[in-house]
Amino acid sequence: MTDFDNKVVIVTGSARGIGKEIAAAFIAEGAKVVISDVNAEACAATAKEFGDRAAAIPANVTVKSEVENLVKQTQEKLGGLDIVVNNAGVTRDGLFVRMKEEDWDLVLNINLKGTFLMSQAAAPVLMKQRSGKIVNIASVSGLFGNYGQANYASSKGGIVALTKVMARELAPRNVNVNAVAPGFIVTAMTDKLTDEIKTSINKQIPFGRMGQVKDIADAVLFLASERASYITGQTIAVCGGLTMQS
Ligand SMILES: NC(=O)c1ccc[n+]([C@@H]2O[C@H](COP(=O)([O-])OP(=O)(O)OC[C@H]3O[C@@H](n4cnc5c(N)ncnc54)[C@H](O)[C@@H]3O)[C@@H](O)[C@H]2O)c1
Repeated sequence: MTDFDNKVVIVTGSARGIGKEIAAAFIAEGAKVVISDVNAEACAATAKEFGDRAAAIPANVTVKSEVENLVKQTQEKLGGLDIVVNNAGVTRDGLFVRMKEEDWDLVLNINLKGTFLMSQAAAPVLMKQRSGKIVNIASVSGLFGNYGQANYASSKGGIVALTKVMARELAPRNVNVNAVAPGFIVTAMTDKLTDEIKTSINKQIPFGRMGQVKDIADAVLFLASERASYITGQTIAVCGGLTMQS
């Protein structure tokens, strides 16, 4: 018996990477998980891999009608909704002075507006039942402003602020809203970096290495559990000490 037995969880952007690991961790603890992603094919393949505790419901988090439909279908197919993990996110890095407006818009739309739309679609259900957890995936980039990531850092800093606002507004209805800010994690997103950049990053991390997807899933499950029921509006950096406060 775990906190998550038969709880219904939506994880956005969970066809691969960190989201897929988060979904796997919830399933391992007895939850029923909606694998949602803009890539419908990958979404179906991942859900199939997980078996009958997973359902594939594709959705683009930037489209209000799609996230509304995601919530509706989740309730119809899985019988409720308890936890939402806003994980879908992208990068389009480049120096601020040369950054294309379309790259700014794309990243802000998916990362920040997507988190807003998904949470707004799910919140009425959680508020009405007077229980629920929202966990947003931010990034250390949004805390310290990573070089070459004006769009991404702004979107993730926005998520940190949005988390606090939603936490204040939903606390009276017993809904917790928190965020996890991953540091550098071994995924397709960081595989794109050159070996030289990876070496220089590792030198800045007190543990001397990048994190694993499981490190993020563990923090998300903690924040979504009853063990974190008195925690809200917080962002936990899971980054090997990269962003510790002085
Ligand atoms: N990998 C890292 O080191 C790292 C560090 C800090 C934060 N993060 C954050 O963790 C989250 C997951 O990152 P990842 O490394 O697993 O990335 P990833 O690229 O492997 O996975 C992201 C998933 O989101 C999906 N997605 C993209 N746009 C979408 C949209 N509009 N609607 C729905 N789904 C969409 C993609 O199809 C993909 O499956 C992101 O929010 C990312 O910003 C990652």
